[in-house]
Amino acid sequence: MGASITGVGHYLPEKILTNQQLEQMVDTSDEWIIQRTGIKERRICRDDEFTSDLAIKAVDNLQKKSDINLDDVDHIIVATMTADYYCPNVASRIQAHIKSSHAGVIDINVACSGFVYALEYAVGLINSGMNKKVLVIGAEAMSKLVDWKDRTTCILFGDGAAAFLLEDRSSTDFLAFIKQSYGDLGHHLVCNGLSNKLNKGIGQTITQSGRDIYRWVVSNIPKCINELIDKSNLSLTDINWFIPHSANLRIIEAVCDRLNYPISKTLLSLTLCGNTSAASIPLAFAIAHDEGKIKNKDTLILHGFGGGLSQLGIVIKLNNL
Ligand code: ACO
Repeated sequence: MGASITGVGHYLPEKILTNQQLEQMVDTSDEWIIQRTGIKERRICRDDEFTSDLAIKAVDNLQKKSDINLDDVDHIIVATMTADYYCPNVASRIQAHIKSSHAGVIDINVACSGFVYALEYAVGLINSGMNKKVLVIGAEAMSKLVDWKDRTTCILFGDGAAAFLLEDRSSTDFLAFIKQSYGDLGHHLVCNGLSNKLNKGIGQTITQSGRDIYRWVVSNIPKCINELIDKSNLSLTDINWFIPHSANLRIIEAVCDRLNYPISKTLLSLTLCGNTSAASIPLAFAIAHDEGKIKNKDTLILHGFGGGLSQLGIVIKLNNL
């Protein structure tokens, strides 16, 4: 018995913000953004649209595609750093929508690593025998936390949501996990909450030291992926798809280069969605699944990295999708 992915869905807000439109807002250019990040456009919520609205639509999409009953879900885990409210959490809004009266409801925030963390918890709940059916959602409205006058961050982020259903099946899809935390480097990526001790003088908008994070990613993520591969008793040539957090194409190219892994076997959501934080990995997965790229029996690495600083990687072999 064990946790298996049995359904996926996603949703992107309708409004598109292109690099050309950003040229009218800040001192930047389409050429700079594409060359430094690989991003061409991103989706942005309406003023009256929030993370839970995106998450609910991603769950509706999952239900429509899979025709799965969700009113007996045991747990709803939402990874987000842009919850609509401190209270109630986003998971509670989803629970009200799908009417799963006995479901546990929890949001977790590990910034861009959040979705893979949420997957690890869901697998723990199912593999321990506590739960049979868990909804895992990555959803973000990053546009609400962006300073639209700051060209170093506003060109990066976008909004979106994607959902996975995990169910107890004859064997688990989840072959190995590895996580590493670097709390002493937390000041490199900050969005102030009730305290502004890490980033004084800045309001509730996201700020990051791009170059420091870039260096940290390129020197640490390849090591983590190699350890993960060793743990799963596989080799990188067994991996059909690598889905890293879609932060920046240049970073992913540098990571693939160090791993000697072909960039053509990575799946990213960043070109048309930007950096959607906790939504980026499940979005890349769900879009590729819709396109028929990801198939049942594929072996994948999902790897989240970002705020904390934090990273978590998972090896998955799909058995029921
Ligand atoms: N348009 C034009 N010029 C710009 C822009 C812009 N939008 N933004 C910055 N510049 C300028 C800078 O001012 C600088 O000018 P200067 O040399 O005159 O000082 C120059 O471009 C180079 O700036 P860098 O910051 O060195 O640019 P870099 O090549 O590092 O790219 C970026 C910046 C895209 C942010 C990159 O560093 C990056 O992606 N870092 C990692 C981000 C990341 O992975 N974050 C973690 C995940 S996010 C999460 O957890 C929520």
